[in-house]
Amino acid sequence: MKTLAIADVVHKIGQEVELYGWVNIKRDHKKIVFLDIRDRSGIVQVVGGEECKALSIEDVVKIKGLVKKRPDKLVNDKIPTGSVEIEVKELTILSKAQPMPLPVTTDGYEIDEEIRMKYRYLDIRRPRITKNLVLRSKFIQLLREYLFEKGFLEVETPILSETTPEGARDFVVPSRLQKGKFYALPQSPQQYKQLLMVAGLEKYFQIARCFRDEDPRADRAYGEFTQLDMEMSFVEREDVMRLVEDMIIGVYQKLNVPIKQKPFPVYNYQDAIKQFGADKFDLRSDEDKKNNVQAFAWVINFPFFEKTETGGWTFTHNPFSAPLPEFKQDLLDKKNIGSILTSQYDLVCNGYEVGGGSIRGHEPAVLKTVFEIMGYAEKDIQHQFGHMLEAFSYGAPPHGGIAPGIDRLLTCITGEKTLREVIPFPMTSGGKTSVMSAPSTVPDDKLQELGIKVNTD
Ligand code: AMO
Repeated sequence: MKTLAIADVVHKIGQEVELYGWVNIKRDHKKIVFLDIRDRSGIVQVVGGEECKALSIEDVVKIKGLVKKRPDKLVNDKIPTGSVEIEVKELTILSKAQPMPLPVTTDGYEIDEEIRMKYRYLDIRRPRITKNLVLRSKFIQLLREYLFEKGFLEVETPILSETTPEGARDFVVPSRLQKGKFYALPQSPQQYKQLLMVAGLEKYFQIARCFRDEDPRADRAYGEFTQLDMEMSFVEREDVMRLVEDMIIGVYQKLNVPIKQKPFPVYNYQDAIKQFGADKFDLRSDEDKKNNVQAFAWVINFPFFEKTETGGWTFTHNPFSAPLPEFKQDLLDKKNIGSILTSQYDLVCNGYEVGGGSIRGHEPAVLKTVFEIMGYAEKDIQHQFGHMLEAFSYGAPPHGGIAPGIDRLLTCITGEKTLREVIPFPMTSGGKTSVMSAPSTVPDDKLQELGIKVNTD
């Protein structure tokens, strides 16, 4: 088993070590050959002779060698192991690599996205992407640790589920057992997490995959993305905001990522629109941008409803939200609908909306009235949301939650331009999966089993 990470060779001066990794660079100087050997932790220079001649870039090797301190003049300040080099004693090639279809030692921004995604497993080898994925793992670990410490339970919710009104198109999955019927992949665990509150779990979180069929943008992954989905019982708006803020401040401190303003400034929706022309905005100065400062802010007091093109009403954020308490009666009376404010809070960072949540309408009458205002007929409300209304009739605690977007937060921390740089296997902007070429056709016999006829016109 490999026991030594390359980054740790600096602590092994004078010792013989066993290294495992990839040939990052090879420089053949006739009698001696210089190699950079790379693993997840970094690279180190290795010096060998004849035995290294046959190596190619990206071969996988095992090297037994002596760790030597480099003379001061030859120290390479650019890499953390630059003060040492390894003298090869024994070299074993564990796997040969054919010529790479794309370079993996550059930062990769210059390479066509289709190629990068087709060979994502090679693309991840580039130190920039490896680093992003290491950060992603650490980030999720710290979020989990914080939430466990605060008494949250991590609970999984179904992926094969029913369509819910979250504002995007659903991905649907045909049922074989009930031909002609479909599951929908969840746009978020919204309803299940609320049901977990009715179930009495009180504090829930999940690193949740969400599926939305919406047009991709730089800040919007196509297909799937990841939320830190959370829900709590017996809380008010400020409790959720304070907890999330405390979590972010603690986690960012552990990651050494500076935050511009603490506590986070809070903006009224109307004021944000007046001041920035949008409800997401970038509070960083040029200096902040250079220093990777993260500028968080909250936006609150959003209108609950907005007019549709056909003159009806629809929700601005989340139909499961409660109105602010002072607007509850208006909502129940369906009065002054355009003036009703919701308990929604959005978290903004560096110009992105990085999270959103609300206190929920836990009384059946409130939830039902929201759908009535949006013009749902009684039978449609019962058909689509009857299970929620019924659940709320058996003793539902007041509750609220939020879902910070993991991919967007990481994009901000890393300063990357698109979410794809921090997602392990993202889809291309054309909606094709990394490496494997989904969506793909399904053989006729499988379609028949599902009771599906495809019309490609
Ligand atoms: P919402 O739809 O606002 O709320 O999503 C919450 C957060 O998820 C992230 N996000 C995305 N990230 C990448 N690509 C996307 N296509 C994408 N869409 C959303 C954003 C966003 O702020 N159930 C509610 C949350 C709640 O009320 O608790 C919900 O999903 O960072």
